[in-house]
Amino acid sequence: MEMYTPEVMISEEEIALRIEALGQAITRDFDGEELVVICVLKGAFIFCSDLIKKINRPMTLEFISLSSYGEGTQSSGNVRLDMDITCNVEGKNVLIVEDIVDTGLTIKTLMAMLALRGPKDVRLASLLYKPSKLKHKVKIDYLGFEIEDKFVIGYGLDYAGRYRELPYIGVLNAGN
Ligand code: PRP
Repeated sequence: MEMYTPEVMISEEEIALRIEALGQAITRDFDGEELVVICVLKGAFIFCSDLIKKINRPMTLEFISLSSYGEGTQSSGNVRLDMDITCNVEGKNVLIVEDIVDTGLTIKTLMAMLALRGPKDVRLASLLYKPSKLKHKVKIDYLGFEIEDKFVIGYGLDYAGRYRELPYIGVLNAGN
């Protein structure tokens, strides 16, 4: 059987500690409010499921599917809406949950799309942020980790559809 052990960039323990802190901050900031959490598929599914368990506020959960990378390691420059949310966000507090802000194109596109629907407030939680790649200015309200310019995989993030199941954030090496 083919074996691989990608290099660990951020361990399971580090991720769990950071998510605990993010959950506490979100709980505090949304005191007395309800939330619509929007998980950006596919990459954010693990982060989102762990994060919402640490947010002690009434919430509903929605999923949206956007993609820009296709099979490669470079953003294609176009964002495709593959699946929309199913609720009306007008007048609601929205928390977008992303796995990574890279060029910022996905989030910029999603923010513009949601703004047209009249939400009360839209905030962003992203597990990772790669400042060296940023092309579109994005405000990350709740950030897990700022990382250097390496192609990261695991904890929901993929390379050509693989590695999402790794419990940590790893680095894709030539040998993998
Ligand atoms: C990845 C990631 C973010 C986006 C970030 O999604 O999950 O949504 O790219 O890149 P950007 O800031 O340059 O837009 P991808 O298109 O790979 O789809 P996936 O989440 O289904 O893997």
